[in-house]
Amino acid sequence: MKFFADTADTDAIKELAEAGLIDGVTTNPSLIHKAGRDFLEVTKEICALVDGPVSAEVVAADHAEMLREAEVLRRIADNVCIKVPLTIEGLKTCRALTGEGTMVNVTLCFSANQALLAAKAGATFVSPFLGRHDDNGFDGLDLIRDIRLIYDNYGFATEILAASIRHGIHVLECARIGADVMTAPPAVIMGLAKHVLTDKGIEAFTADWAATGQAIIAPVAHDPSAGSG
Ligand code: E4P
Repeated sequence: MKFFADTADTDAIKELAEAGLIDGVTTNPSLIHKAGRDFLEVTKEICALVDGPVSAEVVAADHAEMLREAEVLRRIADNVCIKVPLTIEGLKTCRALTGEGTMVNVTLCFSANQALLAAKAGATFVSPFLGRHDDNGFDGLDLIRDIRLIYDNYGFATEILAASIRHGIHVLECARIGADVMTAPPAVIMGLAKHVLTDKGIEAFTADWAATGQAIIAPVAHDPSAGSG
């Protein structure tokens, strides 16, 4: 399963990329607002930090205007993926853009039927919002399961990008179900490394190592004849 970072925070993206943990990035207007940066400028910076797709969302409601916005966004870098909402206007835009070879992420998907439409419109990615689905009394994982089943039934190439991920269990279950990608906030991705037994193990090994009195790197002997500067 590919990991995307769901953020416009370039420091966090750098750290995750350095550890080889991310394959792409997703942003949305709320995340751009949170970052407090110019949209085009921060998107360009993010595109240079990762090789994979960087989702940048259009904000217009109608197809013609979405296309005009997408034109500006896709000029930023080759790895920009245009994010459009799951509306008929968004699907028309998806169709037009993917037809020209531009990656498209159809976002705000809350039903398997909507995901079916995104696949028919040729979406590169569809983003079912797991956490927000849960928040509203539905089972977000059932949604991912249904979409996986339907896409596999018909061999759709659209990738399932599980979004609105809130915690490690979401990540684990998405991997079990076979989501192609998951996008999560940096803190959730970093949190996957945490385990109480790992911490306890490090603590015990550190104490035992200190008791051996050894050092892997020999301490540099002080040479009193060497000047201070
Ligand atoms: C996906 O592309 C969205 O940016 C994101 O996952 C939304 O998550 P939220 O529900 O935590 O805002």
